[in-house]
Amino acid sequence: MIRPIIAGNWKMHKTVEESVNFAHQLREKLSEPVGGDVIIAPPFTALFPVAEALKGVSIHLSAQNLHWEEEGAYTGEISAGMLVGIGCEYVIIGHSERRILFNENSNEINRKIKTALKFNLGPIFCVGETLSERESGQTFAVIKRQIEEGLFNLSSGDIKPIVLAYEPVWAIGTGKTATPGQAEEVHRFIRDTMTEIYGEDTSSNTVILYGGSVNPDNISDLINQPDIGGALVGGASLDVERFIKIVKRCF
Ligand code: PGA
Repeated sequence: MIRPIIAGNWKMHKTVEESVNFAHQLREKLSEPVGGDVIIAPPFTALFPVAEALKGVSIHLSAQNLHWEEEGAYTGEISAGMLVGIGCEYVIIGHSERRILFNENSNEINRKIKTALKFNLGPIFCVGETLSERESGQTFAVIKRQIEEGLFNLSSGDIKPIVLAYEPVWAIGTGKTATPGQAEEVHRFIRDTMTEIYGEDTSSNTVILYGGSVNPDNISDLINQPDIGGALVGGASLDVERFIKIVKRCF
């Protein structure tokens, strides 16, 4: 049985003060060990103070992005080494907001995943179809392409630290969650695609998160699906009580 994961993606929310307050409350309220891994992804500016606030407890830290180069003249960018240096263990890569709003393509996503792996940062690699792709029957083709391109030239050994996240674009921030059946259908497809490329052993050990309007009321039905290994939570991760409810209902 693989360990479930709940990851909170704060996106462009919370000042340092708000982030540290959240971390203190989380630490206090989740002091008992839980049956899965809890990850939070604050904005870059809050990563270091949150890492300090979470010292000594097993709540993990993720960044929301990184640059694929190790260093250099890339004004405004953040490197893998900088993230590892402050205690980050994960990084979100390929989120649909980056793909759509910042024109990130599969080649860049693939390079970011490779750099993250080189620095022992666990990529939380997001895939998902838009509403029009779903309505025109392209969901599986889109997901397969995103996986093949994002993980291009990586072996089954390389991809062990990767956490996959299925996030239908039409469900992100819209309040429209995929039904547990709709989500499971794609999760199953992702698992089968991973088996095809990397073999049963790797695929059965890959955690596949669901993301898109996850909240305390829908998490239980989602997590009961056989191929859903946890959730990547946006809006509902910003409020510490709601986030903890999701964690407790999941593990
Ligand atoms: P949401 O965001 O939970 O607000 O829909 C999920 C995500 O973008 O990771």
